Amino acid sequence: MSDDALYTALKVGRMTLGHRIAFPPVTRYRCDDDGTPNADLAPQYYSERCLVPGTLLIAEATDVSATGGGYINSPGIYSERQIEGWRKVADAVHAKKGYIFVQVWNLGRVNPGTKDKDVFSAGTVQCPDRPKPRMLSTAEVKEKAAEYATAAKNAIAAGLDGIEIHGAHGYLVDQFLQDVTNNERTDEYGGSIENRARFGLEVVQACVDAIGADRVAIRLSPFSRVQAMRMADPFPTFLYFVEQLQERFPGLAYVHMVEPRAGGNNDQIPNEGDSTEPFRKLWKGVWISAGGYTPENAKEYAATHENTVVAIGRNFISNPDLVAKFKEKLALTSYDRSTFYTNKAKEGYLGYTYAEELRGKYY
Ligand SMILES: Cc1cc2nc3c(=O)[nH]c(=O)nc-3n(C[C@H](O)[C@H](O)[C@H](O)COP(=O)(O)O)c2cc1C
Repeated sequence: MSDDALYTALKVGRMTLGHRIAFPPVTRYRCDDDGTPNADLAPQYYSERCLVPGTLLIAEATDVSATGGGYINSPGIYSERQIEGWRKVADAVHAKKGYIFVQVWNLGRVNPGTKDKDVFSAGTVQCPDRPKPRMLSTAEVKEKAAEYATAAKNAIAAGLDGIEIHGAHGYLVDQFLQDVTNNERTDEYGGSIENRARFGLEVVQACVDAIGADRVAIRLSPFSRVQAMRMADPFPTFLYFVEQLQERFPGLAYVHMVEPRAGGNNDQIPNEGDSTEPFRKLWKGVWISAGGYTPENAKEYAATHENTVVAIGRNFISNPDLVAKFKEKLALTSYDRSTFYTNKAKEGYLGYTYAEELRGKYY
């Protein structure tokens, strides 16, 4: 099987990627205390991952509003200073001929309740190790959807290429979608599949209205068990959701789905029958697949799936030159889990150097 598919250009929204390997969102807690990407760290961290021109980076999960977050040193995109911080990141990435979307989230019930004490969700089912959430009122649900659109406009104001709505891993959009967390509402946002999907689809609509479908994307993880998620049978809910995305928003930049072999920041053992294929077949646009990709299975995926990109998380953290290393078949530097989330530390964030073998050809 040839490597060609992985290294061919692909049009994604307004961008033309140089190849089919992307950097997915990875939370790192290196921001300033007010949620601004650190000017000495973040522009370098992101831009050095664009060694090969036309690389798509999806920046780490970012608070849509002051009440959407709760993690210290993770970014926001609602204050002027945060927007300025993101502008520095966008400029550095574009100078390297890369592209950058930012993932936007509202933690909902995953908010630890330390920084922001108002912990809310689709219902009142508690996330392990988190405070019991209160159920959002119908009017509040509509306000929460609008916050994503404000974040989307701010992302464009910062010069970023677009936004990825975090619909995965048990955060607010996922909390509405799945019946494990949305099992007691009686309004139009709870009960039936159509009702549980309504919030996520309204978020997409609001963002599309704000910045255009080709700068909006969404990430989903029907199979992930992280934050005590995963419905008994995720297929009917997520098939409906993807079908609606295709029907209402065929022009989205991409749909991003986490493979059943990945949980959140780790591997998991899939259930029998788990597969992203039925969803991918419903979506006619660009599809990003993430979780557990190696040089071998990434090559195979690209060769056998048209219009797709693979996203590589943990190994891209420790290999800023990952795309070139894959292409040149060089060994990867192992990642160090103990430095994934060390607040504000330079160690494990910057300092991974490009391979000597790439000198001259790539840098
Ligand atoms: C340190 C770390 C932080 C992560 N943060 C996020 C995040 O902010 N948003 C998200 O959707 N996924 C997040 N993930 C999941 C990754 O995007 C990716 O799906 C996962 O690492 C599986 O891919 P891999 O096997 O290539 O590492 C994170 C993973 C890691 C390791």
